[in-house]
Amino acid sequence: MAVRASDSATWVAEGQEKRAAVQRMFAAIAPTYDVCNSLMSLRGHHRWRRAAVDALQLKPGDTVADICCGTGDFFMPLRQAIGPQGKLIGLDFCLPMLERSSTKDEQAGRALGDAGRLPLRSESVNAVTVGWGIRNVPDVDAAHAEIFRVLKRGGRFVSVDMAVPKSALVRAVSNLLTRRGLPILGAIFRQREAYTYLPESTQRFKTREELRTSMEAAGFRDVKIRDFFFGNIAMHLGVKP
Ligand SMILES: C[S@@+](CC[C@H](N)C(=O)[O-])C[C@H]1O[C@@H](n2cnc3c(N)ncnc32)[C@H](O)[C@@H]1O
Repeated sequence: MAVRASDSATWVAEGQEKRAAVQRMFAAIAPTYDVCNSLMSLRGHHRWRRAAVDALQLKPGDTVADICCGTGDFFMPLRQAIGPQGKLIGLDFCLPMLERSSTKDEQAGRALGDAGRLPLRSESVNAVTVGWGIRNVPDVDAAHAEIFRVLKRGGRFVSVDMAVPKSALVRAVSNLLTRRGLPILGAIFRQREAYTYLPESTQRFKTREELRTSMEAAGFRDVKIRDFFFGNIAMHLGVKP
């Protein structure tokens, strides 16, 4: 499926237009998502996921929801933390991505749904993960509020996503690499717009502090931020009091 070239590119679209454009884009790149992810992060994403899961301080038997779960790359470290008796639910609004997650954890429940309106009961999960997902949702504040709603008291939320490096030097090098390298990947995988979306949406995304403010407005406390990959990736951790 080709990504539609529209008047508003995916990275400038807002609201329902962004929702539909993002959904189409991930449906188009689903078959090559895992291989590209590993290439672009130099396989570092596995380490960052593990650090995020460690920060959740999960116990065997806990219930965790992985929102915007995509192909399910958070499932393995989560399952290791919650054990076979734990409950894992993956949610995504893009069926071709969600379908691919079935190979990552056969036990996990899967739901086709929107991050802005979670099909989960209030105070029903011990933790929520979002990996490279929050940047794509049209209303980040609404998604944070939904995540807060479904968490039990004392529950933890971790989000890992792209960020703009704080150092000017690293920013310059990263810009050069992403603006030169990603279009090459886009050409190889015939998804030019999708691989332009990553740097463009990162530039337009909320800053670390804006994300902290949004989480705090939803009710999260003790919000902590940790950078990875020279500040190209940031992790936000919050607790529901
Ligand atoms: C970059 S992928 C990340 C997948 C996975 N979390 C990971 O860590 O590899 C982003 C995922 O978020 C999903 N997504 C984007 N917006 C969404 C929304 N509003 N509701 C549910 N899923 C959404 C996309 O379909 C896609 O699978």
